[in-house]
Amino acid sequence: MPANKPPVSVLGLGMMGSALAAAFLKAGHPVTVWNRSPAKTGPLVAQGALPAKTAAEAVAESPLVVFCLLTNDNVRELFATLPDADAEAVVGKTLVNLTNGTPAQARDLADWAAEHGAHYIDGGIMAVPQMIAGPHAYVLYSGDEQAYETHRSTLAAVGDTKWTGTDPGLAALHDLALLTGMYGMVLGVMQAFALVRTENIPATEFSELLVPWIGAMLAGAPEWAEAIDSGRHLTDVSSIAVNHAAFPNFLAAFRDQGVRADLFEPFQAILDRAMTEGYEADGLSRIADLLRARS
Ligand SMILES: NC(=O)c1ccc[n+]([C@@H]2O[C@H](COP(=O)([O-])OP(=O)(O)OC[C@H]3O[C@@H](n4cnc5c(N)ncnc54)[C@H](OP(=O)(O)O)[C@@H]3O)[C@@H](O)[C@H]2O)c1
Repeated sequence: MPANKPPVSVLGLGMMGSALAAAFLKAGHPVTVWNRSPAKTGPLVAQGALPAKTAAEAVAESPLVVFCLLTNDNVRELFATLPDADAEAVVGKTLVNLTNGTPAQARDLADWAAEHGAHYIDGGIMAVPQMIAGPHAYVLYSGDEQAYETHRSTLAAVGDTKWTGTDPGLAALHDLALLTGMYGMVLGVMQAFALVRTENIPATEFSELLVPWIGAMLAGAPEWAEAIDSGRHLTDVSSIAVNHAAFPNFLAAFRDQGVRADLFEPFQAILDRAMTEGYEADGLSRIADLLRARS
């Protein structure tokens, strides 16, 4: 093990935490691991990791401590045990939390860290465990920028690093927004497959049409983004009025073909509202504004 690489502790050795710990080991860092169920340390110890008996012991071993538990409630509970174990346990440490959560949870954990003398960085992993340390993995970070700069080269062992800002909630916000786009696409694609399957058209055959179509539509997203940022939604391409006129056909076809319409009915309601509020000449980018909750 090269002595010049800084040590890292990884707490939480589920599928993702184990992949992170393995990546740090492979990059040559001394790695201390801890998991609630100790058996999961076995494969990593076989790769050279040091097992810690307690979470506090794992935190004590390294200046950089990575958490990857199931939820931020789990992280909050675990944090709360650390000062009990040793009042100085977290002082001066950089706590990097890569657990999926909300911006508000990240800010709450950052407040806890600040109160206990630790540096806090929140992160959102844009990869599945098999992608960790591969060319397409990246992690969004936010929070303590100085701590991030200090540890960035170590963090790069698991994937590309993308800084989103000093508000600790920003990594979670970007993470959830990216996944929101993904889930919207998944729901639309599943609805499309369900529709063609009512006529026994193989999904595999239909996907040959669907994939390039979705790709071509997605290529228009930067134009929507410009309209959203500038507030100029007027379009001569595909107006709210044109979409509003066509949309009842979708709901009728779902009903006629025997496909549930629940997922798409809210879209009809948004188009109705856009028409009522006088946005008929706008492009679909107007929807992003209409989705903002109003006080
Ligand atoms: N898997 C993915 O594709 C993926 C992708 C991006 C982000 N993530 C995020 O990464 C995080 C971990 O995911 P995962 O796939 O590794 O999940 P996982 O395999 O289910 O592992 C969950 C981990 O959390 C620990 N844990 C659960 N409750 C705990 C508690 N009360 N106290 C202490 N430890 C507790 C588990 O410990 P035990 O072993 O003792 O149960 C285990 O180490 C999640 O927030 C997930 O959303 C996952």
